[in-house]
Amino acid sequence: MRWHRQYGSSGSLGRRLAVVQRLIRSELARRGPGPLRAVSLCAGDGRDLLGAIASWPGRSDLVARLVDRDRTLIARGTRRLARMGLARVEFVPGDAGRTTCLEGAVPADLVLLCGIFGNVSDADVRRTVQHAPELCAPGALVIWTRGRFAPDLTPSIREWFARAGFDEVAFVSIPGSTASVGAHRLSASPRPYRRGVRLFRFLPAGARPSDRARSLRTGNKRAVSPPKKDTPRASIGEP
Ligand SMILES: C[S@@+](CC[C@H](N)C(=O)[O-])C[C@H]1O[C@@H](n2cnc3c(N)ncnc32)[C@H](O)[C@@H]1O
Repeated sequence: MRWHRQYGSSGSLGRRLAVVQRLIRSELARRGPGPLRAVSLCAGDGRDLLGAIASWPGRSDLVARLVDRDRTLIARGTRRLARMGLARVEFVPGDAGRTTCLEGAVPADLVLLCGIFGNVSDADVRRTVQHAPELCAPGALVIWTRGRFAPDLTPSIREWFARAGFDEVAFVSIPGSTASVGAHRLSASPRPYRRGVRLFRFLPAGARPSDRARSLRTGNKRAVSPPKKDTPRASIGEP
């Protein structure tokens, strides 16, 4: 199943989305009126950010770049943008795992890293967190997600954010699932943006950390086997 179809159900992905949107809305309320710059890596069709700002009176102040490599999702998100009349929000197709895609869009006040950390190696999660201050404006909020399936990486991720100069604003475990959402605010000084830095690469389907959660649910050992080299899977990423 393509990951975004799971949003249609009342499952954990929909509840995770609701938490991400609530955190975005409370950040908007905290900041009050005025310009807000946001970026979203592996944004999909942008439903977290676009849904959260739909009824925000200051939405025309939003300047945002949403990066994904799936052109179907980008086309859907772009149609939604047009309906919302948001002229300064853009979807950009490309490799979100490299900082080059953010040139001209950072430093940002809001950085969304949702649906990434369960699909990449632990070292890539750590690298992404370590480089996060290079994407941030002073006091920026980073919102991220990761499943808490064993071995639970979220304590380490929270520690890495602390070491990178962030304070924890929220950590929410979605009841009845392994899904979790974190929000960390940069309290240290931001660091200058650098283009060309590799943050992460999605692992092949079947080798992603999130596949462990699925295999536990289904009891299907094949869910964690790496794909055969000559038959790549069509999956574009799991939550
Ligand atoms: C699990 S989805 C998350 C989407 C969205 N952030 C959310 O939480 O609903 C992962 C997304 O990452 C995208 N993706 C995977 N690797 C990417 C890369 N290197 N560059 C850009 N997008 C990528 C996929 O196309 C997919 O839309």
